[in-house]
Amino acid sequence: MRNFVSGILFTWIVLCAGGYWIFEKGYVNFAADQRPSDVESKLARSARDASADRRAPVRENPIAPTEKNLAVGAKIYLDHCAGCHGVPSNPESAFSWSFYPPVPGFFKGTPDLSEKQNFYAIQHGVRWTGMPAWGGTLPETQIWQVVTFLNNIQKLPPAAQNVFGSESATAPASPPSPMSTPMAMPVAH
Ligand code: HEC
Repeated sequence: MRNFVSGILFTWIVLCAGGYWIFEKGYVNFAADQRPSDVESKLARSARDASADRRAPVRENPIAPTEKNLAVGAKIYLDHCAGCHGVPSNPESAFSWSFYPPVPGFFKGTPDLSEKQNFYAIQHGVRWTGMPAWGGTLPETQIWQVVTFLNNIQKLPPAAQNVFGSESATAPASPPSPMSTPMAMPVAH
């Protein structure tokens, strides 16, 4: 029994020391211009979803998907999110692939999270990714408005589609122009 326990302890110490050595010697690549492996994506996504689920607000989304609310949500999205998450005419730019993990293009695929999880992800951001926490700059009502917009992004009424009217025609391929947000967007030199 004693040998068994020492064996487990020894293995554990070797694994920890090995892991530390791999990180300390720079064998883990921290560059953003590579693709996460399937295993990493799967593990990270399920951990992120579970974390958002545990911490998401209990109240329901107070913003109904009326045409007016969707147009307001579209404007918030255009001002703060479209540079990374895409516009109808450019749903997935090369810029969105410059992040690790890449930015999901919402005009290509609606977020696969619930409204409450989306609210949490937007308010608090997602660490170790490029997703900022908007809680400090957008009031809760605006976050819910953009959540309602995202939930209806595949079936937008004309007033919301019109928000992307001129933008749709002139959307840059990559990278997007600096946005009117508090955060600094990288600009090509
Ligand atoms: C600087 C780029 C950037 C900006 C600006 C940005 N996001 Fe994100 N966002 C990301 C990245 C990267 C992820 C992927 C995070 C991940 O894989 O967990 C993400 C993930 C998300 C998710 C999780 C959904 C999913 O399926 O992964 C939501 C919801 C979201 N963003 C909404 C928004 C909203 C709304 C705004 C604007 C208020 C916004 N984002 C602005 C980069 C950005």
